[in-house]
Amino acid sequence: MSKALYTIAASAVLLSLFACGGGNGTNSAQSESSAAVHYKNECSSCHGRSGNLMMGGAKDLSKSVIPRDEAVAIISGGKGMMPPFKDKFTAQEINELAVYAESLRK
Ligand code: HEC
Repeated sequence: MSKALYTIAASAVLLSLFACGGGNGTNSAQSESSAAVHYKNECSSCHGRSGNLMMGGAKDLSKSVIPRDEAVAIISGGKGMMPPFKDKFTAQEINELAVYAESLRK
């Protein structure tokens, strides 16, 4: 692939990510990388890019041991100082965020 083509393809991917940025669940980009973008935008301020920032009492996600369904429940409904995200993300996006959070475990 030529460099120009690659640039076009890359910006198309970026555009589709921004297109779903409103969060109203039209499942446009469902790749792992969209979870990574959501995590970076919404979660890393407290949890950090590697999960271990622990800002304001946020749990160290790299040391988390909770099962997937519990993580989904916490991300969806919030807990303690963590805000709920069920109005921001679809159930599928929340599931992907839980999977992404698990990928930060050591
Ligand atoms: C305002 C800061 C804040 C933001 C933003 C935030 N969290 Fe949290 N998170 C916390 C805090 C605080 C806890 C600990 C809650 C408790 O147990 O009292 C926590 C706990 C968790 C847990 C449970 C970890 C465990 O082992 O118990 C997961 C999973 C998690 N957060 C994922 C996320 C994801 C994914 C996002 C983004 C969608 C996110 N968090 C955004 C503060 C935050």
